[in-house]
Amino acid sequence: MNNLLALDISAWQHRHILDIQDFSADEINLVMLTADIMSKHMSGPIKKTGSLRGKTIVTLFYEASTRTRGSFELAAKNLGADVVNMTVQSSSVSKGESLINTLNTLESIGADMIVMRHHLSGAHYSAVPFMRANLINAGDGWHAHPTQALLDLYTIRQHLGSAQGLKTVIIGDIRHSRVAHSNIWCLSKMGARVVLCAPPTLLPAGLDNTHNLFPKVEVEYNISNALVDADVVMELRLQKERMRGDLLPGLDEFIYGYQLNAARLALAKPHVIVMHPGPVNEDVEMATDVLHSPRAVVTNQVTNGVAVRMAILQLLSIG
Ligand code: CP
Repeated sequence: MNNLLALDISAWQHRHILDIQDFSADEINLVMLTADIMSKHMSGPIKKTGSLRGKTIVTLFYEASTRTRGSFELAAKNLGADVVNMTVQSSSVSKGESLINTLNTLESIGADMIVMRHHLSGAHYSAVPFMRANLINAGDGWHAHPTQALLDLYTIRQHLGSAQGLKTVIIGDIRHSRVAHSNIWCLSKMGARVVLCAPPTLLPAGLDNTHNLFPKVEVEYNISNALVDADVVMELRLQKERMRGDLLPGLDEFIYGYQLNAARLALAKPHVIVMHPGPVNEDVEMATDVLHSPRAVVTNQVTNGVAVRMAILQLLSIG
């Protein structure tokens, strides 16, 4: 962990992590370098660093999670912090306590940082004016999932060196995907060419760039055209729980038009990597043989989540 002392952290500007949109490229690179140090440290004989000893980190999840919650907990423990996991169902939220009162209560019992997932887009933005603790967005509604975008970038960097100039194709339910939204910002900022591929009903509004809702991206409705010469393919789950009304004629039509299968993947570059934030619905957005092929890096993404979240917690504590 001595390498941490050698890092120039002057680029770091964040007290809270709300979205990736307001990160500079220098800050993103700092997270990557810090995650490198964390990853190297974890591959040594003693995983724990103790650099957050005495800090208390609370996870507060209003929606289900396996990867994000588990990796934040491990990240905090690896740094030596005390961790309290709150489940909304067993907390006083179920008695009607408001979001702000819940967060302030957690601060009153000693939370230095709160990692929160909320079903409402923008919930974190409403809360920060009332908070002393650092707030980290672990996913808010359809809006953003900044630490997922950072671990995805870390994974791209690990396999392909850098995102600069790479053709990255994001396929599936982009409209309801906070992962896609944060990745569009992060990948564009780091110099990737971003191509979105989905039926028109599963694309977000505002892609025309007139209201600054998204950076400039390409849209391609035909999956075969989208995949030609792709360096990175990012698949997304159909988020049926967030869909209102009939956005697709049916599952069979979606699979026919948009499933990533081996024949379609062959159109991409030979070194292509296939990503998915999880959970995967096998044989819906991605054929099982693609998911289990050497091109898929889905388990690497999950593993990298711990080092990247350690980096975020560490930078927030010293920033
Ligand atoms: N990628 C992701 O956010 O997964 P979880 O819902 O399991 O945290």
